[in-house]
Amino acid sequence: MPTSLLFLLFLLLQAASAAAATFPLSISPSALDKWESINLAALSSLSRARHLKRPPTLTGKVTLPAYPRSYGGYSVIFSLGTPPQKVSLVLDTGSSLVWTPCTIPTATYTCQNCTFSGVDPTKIPIYARNKSSTVQSLPCRSPKCNWVFGSDLNCSTTKRCPYYGLEYGLGSTTGQLVSDVLGLSKLNRIPDFLFGCSLVSNRQPEGIAGFGRGLASIPAQLGLTKFSYCLVSHRFDDTPQSGDLVLHRGRRHADAAANGVAYAPFTKSPALSPYSEYYYISLSKILVGGKDVPIPPRYLVPSKEGDGGMIVDSGSTFTFMERIIFDPVARELEKHMTKYKRAKEIEDSSGLGPCYNITGQSEVDVPKLTFSFKGGANMDLPLTDYFSLVTDGVVCMTVLTDPDEPGSTTGPAIILGNYQQQNFYIEYDLKKQRFGFKPQQCDRSKN
Ligand SMILES: *[C@@H]1O[C@H](CO)[C@@H](O)[C@H](O)[C@H]1NC(C)=O
Ligand SMILES: *[C@@H]1O[C@H](CO)[C@@H](O)[C@H](O)[C@H]1NC(C)=O
Ligand SMILES: *[C@@H]1O[C@H](CO)[C@@H](O)[C@H](O)[C@H]1NC(C)=O
Ligand SMILES: *[C@@H]1O[C@H](CO)[C@@H](O)[C@H](O)[C@H]1NC(C)=O
Repeated sequence: MPTSLLFLLFLLLQAASAAAATFPLSISPSALDKWESINLAALSSLSRARHLKRPPTLTGKVTLPAYPRSYGGYSVIFSLGTPPQKVSLVLDTGSSLVWTPCTIPTATYTCQNCTFSGVDPTKIPIYARNKSSTVQSLPCRSPKCNWVFGSDLNCSTTKRCPYYGLEYGLGSTTGQLVSDVLGLSKLNRIPDFLFGCSLVSNRQPEGIAGFGRGLASIPAQLGLTKFSYCLVSHRFDDTPQSGDLVLHRGRRHADAAANGVAYAPFTKSPALSPYSEYYYISLSKILVGGKDVPIPPRYLVPSKEGDGGMIVDSGSTFTFMERIIFDPVARELEKHMTKYKRAKEIEDSSGLGPCYNITGQSEVDVPKLTFSFKGGANMDLPLTDYFSLVTDGVVCMTVLTDPDEPGSTTGPAIILGNYQQQNFYIEYDLKKQRFGFKPQQCDRSKN
């Protein structure tokens, strides 16, 4: 059973630098300083000129299918390069860098060495960098390199942007940053798009499409004013059904609030912190069967440092709650579920809980689970988003906690996973900095 996947913990600067090329310097430091400023000025002028001459072609909106995957995520097909090469990337609002498994002709490392989890590796498209006529490698002193490594990156020993290393909950990836054309559709081809060409990766199902709040993310690079998705139900297989991912750019778009979308404001992300890329929301309470669950307020509202509160993460499968939240929620649920038998063995083997044996019951009576956000919007989860038949006759709550971490106070206290977002229209309104949601049937064949 896949658990909380792809939770970006931190960006390892210059990880795996054993694989990085470093160049000995043969020019004097003062010459270097001058070269630095000239080079930087040249590069920023060039990238600005390119931008002014060829602004991203995306205007209005683009709709792409989002496919549920057996590993518990959703993936979207993009193309990279000229001629376009198709890549399949995990839709991830919990991280920002876009990366794809990649091969380069002269490297000892190619993603033939990558290990993939939960997918057939022969079905993973790999971007062949040398087959694209528009690919460019990134100098260390390029603004795009700074998007990923920060502005105080030390470029004195390397001309190339350093290797990136990303650690996720279960795996990791390392590679080189490049820029190339990102294709959203035949008509929407975005030049000079920054992404990672991963040469080593461990236990990653495929590449990642970062939709987080960082400078390198798809929304930031494309200047999106909003994006939204509707995720079809998981069946933990790769059946070809899909929901929509919609990207909007431009000043005017119809206000969806008129159509019954409820909104909660995004909280400002902490600067200079590994949490700066996350979409935070403040909660006012959590209700189980309409009853306010007692939770210390500091866990519901994020601090300036990003501790506490909820983040919305399409890359996690099941919602995670700190134990200090999970325990009272589970206790309140148990009060309503006393007529069913607890199935502890299934809790132990699945990592989910509480679980109940409902064999022989024609109907199961489960209390409503509601997230109540600051600002007044209430998110009532449909039963299938927080309770699931895990095995014959046994249902479990599909929310996780960390049994070994009783009182962690660092980082988000709740990570709203994609399982709890199924069959909702979910909107990230980047202009008004707010999270929108509305129950909706996402499988178009059922509309
Ligand atoms: C690209 O590199 C691959 C692997 O090294 C090689 O097989 C292929 O011929 C190269 N293609 C081009 C167009 O250079
Ligand atoms: C990559 O795989 C090849 C073939 O299995 C192997 O010879 C090589 O040592 C591997 N490289 C790394 C860095 O693991
Ligand atoms: C950059 O790195 C070089 C070599 O490691 C070091 O000598 C120099 O002091 C560093 N500069 C800064 C500003 O950290
Ligand atoms: C559920 O309860 C039924 C009847 O009481 C029993 O036969 C079955 O083994 C139980 N299932 C599990 C998974 O414990």
